[in-house]
Amino acid sequence: MQGLTEREFREIRELAYRSFGLDLRPGKEALVNARLARRMQELGLGSLSEYVEAVKADRTGEELERLINALTTNHTGFLREPQHFALLREAVLPPLARRGTIRIWSAGCSTGEEPYTILFTAADVLGAERIGTLQLLATDISTRVLEKAQAGIYAKERLEGLPPGWAQRYFQRGEGRWEGSVRVKPEWRARVEFRRLNLMEDFSFLPRFQVIFCRNVMIYFDKPTQERLVGRFTDRLEAGGWFLIGHSEGLMGIRHGLDYVRPAVYRKPAGAGAAGRRGA
Ligand SMILES: C[S@@+](CC[C@H](N)C(=O)[O-])C[C@H]1O[C@@H](n2cnc3c(N)ncnc32)[C@H](O)[C@@H]1O
Repeated sequence: MQGLTEREFREIRELAYRSFGLDLRPGKEALVNARLARRMQELGLGSLSEYVEAVKADRTGEELERLINALTTNHTGFLREPQHFALLREAVLPPLARRGTIRIWSAGCSTGEEPYTILFTAADVLGAERIGTLQLLATDISTRVLEKAQAGIYAKERLEGLPPGWAQRYFQRGEGRWEGSVRVKPEWRARVEFRRLNLMEDFSFLPRFQVIFCRNVMIYFDKPTQERLVGRFTDRLEAGGWFLIGHSEGLMGIRHGLDYVRPAVYRKPAGAGAAGRRGA
């Protein structure tokens, strides 16, 4: 495939922004080229403009799905940014454990390592008899990563550095052709509700959560998109609920109604109703 023209890049940029909020800044041309080249070859298309037309013309939405799968960045890992899980274990879950249902949402869950880490941390705190009080929703826009998350199969090296006992308690070891892989045990996989959800679309039908993780997702969105999204997340948080973002992110420069607790940790003010807005 030839290099992208400015117009082709603009077209793909507009389509990605409109469909899933992705803010492809200039400088990402090579990445777009690399990620779409194979699909264009399969379709026998010679230019990106033709590809954009093919995506728009496909009423089934399958081509857009492939585009999303190709352009989203899905890097993740078990116990990534461990401070959040220490917070969950020490400050967030103990008071919630004394109440009824605990609802946690992993928004932008990628291949599942984040929600499974939430689950195993909660199981440590709540114990086997009360883990049933946890309702854990994990969503992503990419069907490709959701399939992997639901399968729960990982290279065994990915478990390095996890707390002692987790590998045995929560994973089965692969044998034969699965040698070198581990799989989350079915009874634990069943405790996560994986669902496709585009964060650019309405999610006001979801219940209110005590904790929302949206880590390393909003970095791909521009400030106006982030501001709208944080307002909608705030609306889906219970008063006093926790909002966790990636440590390389921040809510600087966007208006929101959350209290800053520490880097990458925010709370909806206790007693707050629907999403209020205030200057950051
Ligand atoms: C870098 S991963 C972060 C995974 C995990 N939260 C973590 O911090 O390790 C970002 C995820 O956000 C998802 N994503 C990007 N745009 C999205 C959108 N508009 N709606 C829902 N998910 C989106 C991507 O598919 C990807 O799996």
